[in-house]
Amino acid sequence: MSNVPALDIFDQVFVKSIFQRMSGKYWVNDFCSFGLTDHWRRRAINSLHLPQGASVCDLMTGTGESWSFILDAIGKQGQITAVDFSEEMLEVARERVRRLNFLNVTMVRSEIFSYSFPTHSFDAITCTFGAKLVPPWKWDDFAKLIASLLKPTGRFVLLELGRPSNAFLKGPYDAYVRHAVPFLASLLAGSDEGFELLEQYTKAFEGFESMRQAFQRAGLYSEVKPFFGGCGSLLVGSRLSQKLAEGEGFEPPVRFPVHSISSRAL
Ligand SMILES: C[S@@+](CC[C@H](N)C(=O)[O-])C[C@H]1O[C@@H](n2cnc3c(N)ncnc32)[C@H](O)[C@@H]1O
Repeated sequence: MSNVPALDIFDQVFVKSIFQRMSGKYWVNDFCSFGLTDHWRRRAINSLHLPQGASVCDLMTGTGESWSFILDAIGKQGQITAVDFSEEMLEVARERVRRLNFLNVTMVRSEIFSYSFPTHSFDAITCTFGAKLVPPWKWDDFAKLIASLLKPTGRFVLLELGRPSNAFLKGPYDAYVRHAVPFLASLLAGSDEGFELLEQYTKAFEGFESMRQAFQRAGLYSEVKPFFGGCGSLLVGSRLSQKLAEGEGFEPPVRFPVHSISSRAL
């Protein structure tokens, strides 16, 4: 038996160190997806039907990759609270604030489960490409955190990569993530550090179908929307109605017209 300890990909110090090293070359991810990841971020944010002036909490914000899409929806009157534990990623995000000339971003450097958020204070919660970093044994806490942050009429969306279920797509997808992404990262950014781990995280992530049950236990309705044969998917949802929370079964999702989301600026 080997004495080398198995790599704990969910160890916080380890995760932080990945993003410390990747912060300056995180853009390579978008390049490697031929722009698909940005396209999915936009779709994720659009699925929330955010009104102008809404307040959004972007968990695991990274360098603020989703901000321009959120900003398009909420306008300059809106508010973004952006949380990430990596100082290096937030440093790159500060550049983005200057570029977007958007003053209503509050950046919080914190571990998401340790921060004392004001409860029920956000119109929407977003988390793009962060869910795979939440260990499965913390999914219930993750769902409870999101439930505690949302206003009663609020909505949330998570976006994540996934292994396609289609056998024809699975092989090429695995090969691309295992070989092409690290190769392109080395070529474009001079190192594949961090990028070679993408395969492990996407394999460890069981997908939103399993995570969704944790959200249901936390009193949140959600539905999974796959993209591109399951290479990406959304978990989009809202609070369960009282009836549903009491266990009277599932109903089709409540469609949220824009006026149903409260906002200070409306
Ligand atoms: C894959 S990046 C996603 C960045 C961005 N949201 C995007 O769309 O690309 C994940 C981010 O989550 C942060 N992160 C991971 N675990 C975290 C935790 N427990 N608390 C706070 N931030 C965390 C990392 O520092 C990293 O910036």
